[in-house]
Amino acid sequence: MSTSSILSYRGKNAPASPIRKLEPLARAAAERGTKIYHLNIGQPDIPTPASFLQKARLEPGNVLSYSPSVGLYPYRKALVDYYTGIGMPVAERDILVTTGGSEALLFVLMALCDPGDEVITPEPYYPNYGTFSMMAGATLRTLPTRIEDGFRLPPPADFAAAITPRTRAILLCNPSNPTGTLYSRDALTAVVALAKQHGLMLICDEVYRDFVYAGTPLSILSIPGAADVAIIIDSLSKRFSACGARLGCIISQRHELIDAVTRFAMARLSPPTLGQLGGLGALEDPGPFVSSMIAEFRRRRDVLMEELAKLPGVLAPEAQGAFYLMTRLPVDSSERFCAWLLNDFSHQGETVMLAPGPGFYQTPGSGQDEVRIAYVLGEAPLRRAVQLLGHALQAYPGRK
Ligand SMILES: Cc1ncc(COP(=O)(O)O)c(C=O)c1O
Repeated sequence: MSTSSILSYRGKNAPASPIRKLEPLARAAAERGTKIYHLNIGQPDIPTPASFLQKARLEPGNVLSYSPSVGLYPYRKALVDYYTGIGMPVAERDILVTTGGSEALLFVLMALCDPGDEVITPEPYYPNYGTFSMMAGATLRTLPTRIEDGFRLPPPADFAAAITPRTRAILLCNPSNPTGTLYSRDALTAVVALAKQHGLMLICDEVYRDFVYAGTPLSILSIPGAADVAIIIDSLSKRFSACGARLGCIISQRHELIDAVTRFAMARLSPPTLGQLGGLGALEDPGPFVSSMIAEFRRRRDVLMEELAKLPGVLAPEAQGAFYLMTRLPVDSSERFCAWLLNDFSHQGETVMLAPGPGFYQTPGSGQDEVRIAYVLGEAPLRRAVQLLGHALQAYPGRK
């Protein structure tokens, strides 16, 4: 049998998600009877709205059919009404419904980039940006941001310095996963101007748009002139606590792009039909679901900040949006610490699971003493989870 690899460059080199890669250790810990508080993954625990669940079903005797490749027409129409209602000027032909924001990201990168083209994004970044770029044959060029100044967006000069003849787009996540940073209107206005000046597209991942705890949600489309360059990635996963519905969309007024991603969408036939029915139900009858969920996450954010402030040596910038926080811990290696939490530590039979920082960076050596905390638990378990982190930091042999 040949010993040479059957895999492509992509197959060999796509990184494992830092959010999921410790799962085997978690499983072993759970099998030993340890209770694990999961702060590693962005899976909210809020029940999906009844209006969603009631409509995401068919009576026996019906056919669970494909939908149109661009999405069910009533669902797209409901999306237009939804965006119009929140002040985002979007028409039906600006939207392609996708299988989650994940497929939206992959389609957009594939439509914009030839192999070897480049996309600029601030780091730390959502790790799947790296994987999707690799799948599209594109190279992610990262711009460092600093925990000391709340991971704020780098100045336009830094973006300009990273632009090469191969640069096709700038990719922002606002509010940011993993940092919890909310970019200011001024900072976004400057990036829009830069993108226009250099003929680049601006991909704005707004899947956490509503999750804002200081100020009001801000779409890139509200920046004057942005519509020429903006491509929005959106998702119902977090907004309606419906991650398993696999429902997202691409929004752009550049119809050349919508045309290209529509041809990709035809090849994959259809986004999930039941998910779209559910999404239609939620959009038609949203009730106070989103506002009460945001109020709940604001309380959790407050609890997280309050508990982290009690831990000596921990640096936690203010969490402004999404439900994540990149946090600096007094440890030699966050990779080792996160594995140790699952393998070697427990307090009264309990431990906590976190996502190690380096997987959110491309620059070697970055994020060594950082972890991403996803505050997706209710107040009491969240408090306990951060207290467990405190006990663990006292016991960890590699404490700095
Ligand atoms: C920043 C960001 N973008 C996109 C996605 C993709 O979400 P989905 O495919 O569930 O819509 C996620 C999911 O966690 C995310 O955090």
